[in-house]
Amino acid sequence: MTAKSTSKTPERTPLEERLIELIKLKGPITVADFMADALGHPHEGYYMTGAPIGAEGDFTTAPEISQIFGELIGLWLVEAWRSMGSPKDFNLIELGPGRGAMMADILRAARLRPEFTRAAHLWLVETSGRLRHEQQKRLRAGDVKPSWADEFADISQAPSLIVANEFFDCLPVRQFQRVKGGWRERLVGLDPTGAGLGFVLGATPPPAALDLPAQAGDGDIFEISFAAREFAADICALLTEHGGCALLIDYGHIQSGLGETLQAVRSHRYWPPLASPGRADVTAHVDFDALARVAIDAGAVAHGPVPQGRFLERLGLSIRVDTLCKGKSAADAETIRAGAHRIAAPEQMGEIFKVMCLSAPGLPTPAGFDDI
Ligand SMILES: C[S@@+](CC[C@H](N)C(=O)[O-])C[C@H]1O[C@@H](n2cnc3c(N)ncnc32)[C@H](O)[C@@H]1O
Repeated sequence: MTAKSTSKTPERTPLEERLIELIKLKGPITVADFMADALGHPHEGYYMTGAPIGAEGDFTTAPEISQIFGELIGLWLVEAWRSMGSPKDFNLIELGPGRGAMMADILRAARLRPEFTRAAHLWLVETSGRLRHEQQKRLRAGDVKPSWADEFADISQAPSLIVANEFFDCLPVRQFQRVKGGWRERLVGLDPTGAGLGFVLGATPPPAALDLPAQAGDGDIFEISFAAREFAADICALLTEHGGCALLIDYGHIQSGLGETLQAVRSHRYWPPLASPGRADVTAHVDFDALARVAIDAGAVAHGPVPQGRFLERLGLSIRVDTLCKGKSAADAETIRAGAHRIAAPEQMGEIFKVMCLSAPGLPTPAGFDDI
């Protein structure tokens, strides 16, 4: 997601009050704990209380911008299923389905192969009750009925095809900062006035086992998402045991590296990450390098990442645009072309967003990942 800077003044939220009380009582918390509460606190978390996605919300996503995004992924999934030997029963899993737009487009495109939709058991992994409701409304008319899972571990063990768009960026990161030649964890404590939240540094060095980069200058920040690594490990355990693959799409970096990527967005504008927790979307770039290493350690295969624009073009974006535009009014055709440009052009979402595939060993290179 991309945005301009905010002009609004942050307001104090109930979650902020709770966090300040907690920090006064127990001391600073990790950035990961802050992020987990800001997004997922059962009563005050951003995804529990708001209507985040779309023009009226805080941000928009590729499947919300263009139907072609989900349609091409639908065709990719059908091809991946065929390469697995067309199993008669398999899990079709979406992590963090938002308003269900991508899955609706996937299922419409996949109708080209009715055997695929007949074999699919659709699972949606979603924490937000409000978004589950929207997913149900969007998908209830279709021929594949969804089941919802609170946790990935709740899904039945079977060959699986998994998709996740802008899901891994919601998983909490911890931050470490280089100070006077050593590392300290960057924590969320109280600001100098004692009345609000602010970044502080941990008193002791983090454990050596974290293997923080040796080459860093004073002030540099390194982020680690243990939550993302654990999620990738769970995915790979399912894939290596039962077969299948996972398509992960997110903004992030190809190689692990220094730099702060924690950011917040509200009303389509950047927002100070610690301000008004629960009212802004807080995310961090995905470290695809780290996810690939988890996959390899688990005996799975990591393909990519490939920039989103190149991936979509390889799947036939331009051809689909031309087909959809046929017979449309000039204005409608322009809307279709503008949507495709936004999701694929390098200066828009085409370069910063990346696509990675984790797969069970022994499967052919998936479509879109050849010659990278
Ligand atoms: C940025 S939105 C992306 C929505 C959708 N994939 C799209 O592209 O429009 C993140 C989605 O992940 C869900 N989510 C965030 N953290 C989650 C978690 N820990 N477990 C399950 N779902 C989560 C949110 O509720 C939301 O549906």
